Amino acid sequence: MAGNRNLNIAARAKNDEFYTQYDDIQRELNCYYIYDKNFLRDKTVLLPCDDPEWSNFTKFFALNFELYGLKKLISTSYAADKKKFIYRNLFDEFKDFSHGKIYTLEQNDLGKVDYPLKALNRWEYLEGDGDFRSAEVKRLRDEADVIITNPPFSMFREFLAWILEANKKFLIICNMNCITYKEVFPLIKENKIWLGNGFSGGDPQFKVPADYEERSTRFWIDNDGQKWRSFGNLHWLTNMEHGKRHENISLYMKYSPELYPRYDNYDAIEVSKTAEIPKDYAGVMGVPITFLGKYCPEQFEILGKIDTGKINEYNLANPIINGKIGYKRIAIRRRR
Ligand SMILES: C[S@@+](CC[C@H](N)C(=O)[O-])C[C@H]1O[C@@H](n2cnc3c(N)ncnc32)[C@H](O)[C@@H]1O
Repeated sequence: MAGNRNLNIAARAKNDEFYTQYDDIQRELNCYYIYDKNFLRDKTVLLPCDDPEWSNFTKFFALNFELYGLKKLISTSYAADKKKFIYRNLFDEFKDFSHGKIYTLEQNDLGKVDYPLKALNRWEYLEGDGDFRSAEVKRLRDEADVIITNPPFSMFREFLAWILEANKKFLIICNMNCITYKEVFPLIKENKIWLGNGFSGGDPQFKVPADYEERSTRFWIDNDGQKWRSFGNLHWLTNMEHGKRHENISLYMKYSPELYPRYDNYDAIEVSKTAEIPKDYAGVMGVPITFLGKYCPEQFEILGKIDTGKINEYNLANPIINGKIGYKRIAIRRRR
């Protein structure tokens, strides 16, 4: 029975329904725009996890289509019956839950729509379910120059690989844990990808669907009955230039051996807070992973690799200080 099939799919599905706020998108994109007003000019932008009816990414790029000088905007979404929870409205029962949706806006359309937001209701169904791995959405990826979204957290590795195999520019929301993945850290070390500007206060809030299970922490329901969640460890990951990346961290601490212990197993010192990186130390330092949110490649070079269990030069996955295993660190050195 189709009903049972859908229930089984929902039971298996991971919960990936977290809806990004307009202000968070605007705040991040502003940094790239201020750095280079033409960063998206004549580009095709694909938003591959964005329901044209809900997504603030779709709204943001439709509204800023002309300002950014986009050539084409494509926004696609995943079929509702593949999701664990569904974000609905009153008319949803009349909709087809087995297909994804697609919305496109092109330069030629602008003359025909007096206000791009109005055109958002001109979405159509995709042939398939809108899975980013489907041939249909892959074709859209290949057509696009830039891929932007908050992707399904449960499929992050696969999603990033899907972008990188097509060699696209991208800007996506990530969990900070992804930095230590073997598919991610080497690219950060080689300055091929980097963190974006980041969320205000580092603690973004996301709308979640009405049937989302209640939680005891980082969860609340607002006066309109809308459910929300917040996350403390999210950031933006990108390979597009933005101004913050080239701002030096201002340093005020002076090195002294008492303040900065040496690791037992590496020729490096432990610096437990990014703000306390000594301004006068020329050797190798182990810094927290959150350093990458402030990393300026003109100021520091990244030397280490993070590879749990293996002892290699500056592999600070398991640094030992005075006989005790310390926190995972990134090995850096000041550029001369
Ligand atoms: C974290 S949510 C973000 C939604 C939207 N991008 C936003 O920021 O508001 C990730 C979205 O990806 C969708 N998704 C899950 N698996 C997918 C897949 N295989 N292909 C495409 N989208 C998928 C989820 O249904 C969910 O709506």
